[in-house]
Amino acid sequence: MPTPSIILDCDPGHDDALAIVVAARYTNLVGITTVSGNAPIESTTHNALVMKDLLGLKVPVHKGAVRPLVAPPQYAAYVHGESGLDGADLPEPTSKHDSDDAVGYLIDTCRATEGLWLVPTGPLTNIAMALRLAPDLGRRIAGISLMGGGTFGNRTTAAEFNIWVDPEAADVVFNYGGPLVMAGLHLTHQFRATQARIDRVKALPGQLANVLGDLMQFFTDTYMRRHHGMDGGAVHDPCSVLVLSHPDLFVSRPAHVVVELNGTHTRGMTLIDQRDLKEVLEPNCDVLWEIEAEPAFDLMIDAIAHFSR
Ligand code: RIB
Ligand code: CA
Repeated sequence: MPTPSIILDCDPGHDDALAIVVAARYTNLVGITTVSGNAPIESTTHNALVMKDLLGLKVPVHKGAVRPLVAPPQYAAYVHGESGLDGADLPEPTSKHDSDDAVGYLIDTCRATEGLWLVPTGPLTNIAMALRLAPDLGRRIAGISLMGGGTFGNRTTAAEFNIWVDPEAADVVFNYGGPLVMAGLHLTHQFRATQARIDRVKALPGQLANVLGDLMQFFTDTYMRRHHGMDGGAVHDPCSVLVLSHPDLFVSRPAHVVVELNGTHTRGMTLIDQRDLKEVLEPNCDVLWEIEAEPAFDLMIDAIAHFSR
């Protein structure tokens, strides 16, 4: 499998920070765009720059949407803290973001370099705006590998946070017509930062490992406090990267997926049609169902060790 070239669209966010690490290690990370989600856009952009500098990357970082297409902005301080990356002593970034126009960057870069994967790990606002402004992108990109949705919710009973924040944007993405890979909660909850795995990160030398060990500990402590039966924080976002670099670690099945926009209790829900009926609509998405969590986590730890010094 050739090394995938990607643009990571993210809302760091603890698990987004880890997605940056695995993307930098296992893909050709062409660029990073930021979106309002886990925290306001100023914070998610700041946090992306912190990770860029901690990893010593040269990748451009472009600031994106301040708020969703229609809904008011919503954040997730209850998981990630007010900063979006609480729980570690983070160095102030020296890098500055490259522009305030993530959408323009996405359009220009995907037109100039065909065959890129777009990997959104936050609300889909930037991606939807790019697809709406430049419908030709659907033919120029290799595909979209997103973290979002699932067979159950986390922000509500039915809706996962990334989709729930901007369902209208998600609807645009699920209808764009090109290759689409979905890492939903039913998949990402299999990929957890257990204490044993966190301790392996903390045992690594270097500042990055120290910072990420603390961030993982904060993230997992929050999960353990909020859930009854989880043994670690679900590390959602790296799944959308690793499925491109290490597809053999995953099981996926094509399905037709729609986003609910109007339900009183179900707005932001992704409905995955699993019915064994010939009448079901043509698949628009490769839904991930299984991950080999141990080797996948080994890859993430190896990536941290690679950059930590
Ligand atoms: O629901 C989990 C998703 O929402 C993850 O991408 C997390 O970082 C937040 O963006
Ligand atoms: Ca995220």
